[in-house]
Amino acid sequence: MSLILGIETSCDETSAAVVRDGYQVLSNSVASQIAKHAVHGGVVPELAAREHLVALNPVLSDALNAAGVTMRDIDAVAVTNGPGLMPALLVGLNFAKGLAASHKLPLIGINHFIAHIYAAFLDDGAGRLEAPESYPILALVVSGGHTSLLLIDDQGRARLIGYTIDDAAGEALDKAAKLLGLGYPGGPVIDRIATLGNAGHFNFPRPLTGSAGKAVPEEHKFNFSFSGVKTSLLYHVARLSDNGHLEGPLLNDTVSSYQEAVVDVLCRKTIAAAKEFKAASIVVCGGVACNSRLRTLIAEEAPKNVMLYLAQRKYCTDNAAMVAGLAWHFLKNDAVSDLGIDAFARLPMITQVPFVRVAEL
Ligand code: KG4
Ligand code: ZN
Repeated sequence: MSLILGIETSCDETSAAVVRDGYQVLSNSVASQIAKHAVHGGVVPELAAREHLVALNPVLSDALNAAGVTMRDIDAVAVTNGPGLMPALLVGLNFAKGLAASHKLPLIGINHFIAHIYAAFLDDGAGRLEAPESYPILALVVSGGHTSLLLIDDQGRARLIGYTIDDAAGEALDKAAKLLGLGYPGGPVIDRIATLGNAGHFNFPRPLTGSAGKAVPEEHKFNFSFSGVKTSLLYHVARLSDNGHLEGPLLNDTVSSYQEAVVDVLCRKTIAAAKEFKAASIVVCGGVACNSRLRTLIAEEAPKNVMLYLAQRKYCTDNAAMVAGLAWHFLKNDAVSDLGIDAFARLPMITQVPFVRVAEL
């Protein structure tokens, strides 16, 4: 039995969690900085770093207390060391290094992107990743920073088969909310307002799907593009309002139709890729996977012979449970990190995921 403490500070959430044997989440404490960044209309990296510094100790105490353990019970410290905002990552990484060194515990650096995929298996996914019939897995990672499709085979080999060529889906929602004066972050408020409107009222573009009669170039078959939807919203608002402000049913229908365009593209591409690559499982994860419409649509549209793993909402947005859980697969194979590990800002090419075959790490 292993207890891993996870630390996550890659963006604007400070989180600590205790996870038993990779799946059983004993605690997952998250302090959100959203209110601090909202006044700036987006995340300010230096501000995020300062806030993490303040929040880390209370969040750690909270996670240990909620799990009913002390640092003496912990077997390893796991920490997100990238990708993310460099100043923010460094605070968590150095904090975790300090904890590991002072308590003489192994340190495990975790890739945040892969942790998002792993999040879909927390709590009750034990055994699924070990089962050969779960593969290939097609993962849609959809957040404020990523919109990617990753195909994982039963040897743990991974291939990026689609990605956004401009904005991430979360970014498209956040920027739309800003444009419509709905505040930051946009995802949750758009999700809520969309339920009040008619998703079919306006027709926003679905780029790279061939929907407007435009052929999709082969190299973009599974790629995404969201910057055009955002521009189209800009023209839409200018057309319907003199002062750039929409309200009432017009606002609700706009939000609902805009969200529908984003979600429709995500679902269509994911399902098309799942069919093409004969995926046995689909994983949907990352902050945007909280979206109610996306969850409903993918569940309705996914082929019935494919297992659908929708990360639980509490594990979609940034959290340390996914970090601690994934780290168990490293720990059990003695694949621990050096205390000198660095943080990295950008996503490296992922060719192997650690939760299938750690031996090849
Ligand atoms: O995974 P995450 O917490 O951070 C990144 O790694 O980016 O994702 C944050 C993103 C934001 O763009 C936010 O607007 C979006 O997730 N989001 C949502 C919802 N909740 C959060 N998007 C759509 N619907 C939601 N309910
Ligand atoms: Zn994230």
